Amino acid sequence: MSKNILILPGDGIGPEIVTEAVKVLAALRDGHGLDIEMDEALVGGAAIDATGVPLPEATMALAREADAVLLGAVGGPQWESLDISVRPEKGLLGLRSGLGLFANLRPAILYPQLAGASTLKPEIVAGLDIVIVRELTGDIYFGQPRGVRTLENGERQGFNTMVYTESEIERIVRVACDIARKRDRRVCSVDKANVLECTELWREVATSLVKREYPDIELSHMYVDNAAMQLVRRPKQFDVMVTGNIFGDILSDAAAMLTGSIGMLPSASLNAAGKGMYEPIHGSAPDIAGKGVANPLATILSVAMMLRYTLGNAPLADRIETAVNRVLDSGLRTPDILSEGMTEVGTEAMGDAVVAALK
Ligand code: IPM
Ligand code: MG
Repeated sequence: MSKNILILPGDGIGPEIVTEAVKVLAALRDGHGLDIEMDEALVGGAAIDATGVPLPEATMALAREADAVLLGAVGGPQWESLDISVRPEKGLLGLRSGLGLFANLRPAILYPQLAGASTLKPEIVAGLDIVIVRELTGDIYFGQPRGVRTLENGERQGFNTMVYTESEIERIVRVACDIARKRDRRVCSVDKANVLECTELWREVATSLVKREYPDIELSHMYVDNAAMQLVRRPKQFDVMVTGNIFGDILSDAAAMLTGSIGMLPSASLNAAGKGMYEPIHGSAPDIAGKGVANPLATILSVAMMLRYTLGNAPLADRIETAVNRVLDSGLRTPDILSEGMTEVGTEAMGDAVVAALK
């Protein structure tokens, strides 16, 4: 049966990079028997401009029906003055929570061809292969109460709430352990248990869950400040990292730079049924939008994750990853990963090269 994929280009460089990823999907459909149909809808600032809201009901309805969603990026300076409750980012957060996409997988793999593009010394990052498992529908991102209130003395005070229930912690730690079982069986849980009760509970629940259900997994714990330092100091010590929404947001940007460019990192956001939304971890990069220079590889690699996790087609996922490797071998580079002796290309040429390398 044909699978339905909803394409949400979004804002900034979103439409440019998604165009290249759609080319890859179309090539797999036309040349490799991938049975898919694609639909497109509005999200983020593009949706605000057209309909007044960042996540129109029509988009949400299509997303609910789709087997998988491919998203570019949302946000940009032209919407920054809007109230936070109706900004483009709310479209993305609404999709994540509305579809129950609690498990965000952010693999950070250093392609050997890009060792020189990292800001870290090659020996620190060579062979890097870690996965950050970020909880995506809880924490301070969604906790109530939240807002800005005026105190009795007339001063305003902003407040947000960090919250996690035991079941939310257990289900994300399970995802991390299941992934670790296919790897080196090591999970590092990141928290701030020395200061925050919420994450003290996180540590306690993670410890007892792993003891009960995953005795074969080696679980360690690290405070988030130390984890940030260790990621740039000795990143290869990690196998799988599991953490909450806000810590995962921050640590995954740091991990991205280990791989040379944030333009290389794909992600999968999965719900309990395995349905997923796939997106690059980078943002809408308004500074380079419309210039045709954005790196489409994170989005193309997100399609590979879609094939692997939601469409159950590992061979075609491998094919995309091999194609990306070949293109990097051939020396083509977008500006973000450019190094001496390589050939600079734009977004479209990079996408075309990957399509050609699929053959
Ligand atoms: C990410 C992004 C989003 C987040 C923004 C755009 C809301 O930074 O996916 O990491 O904070 O989760
Ligand atoms: Mg982020």
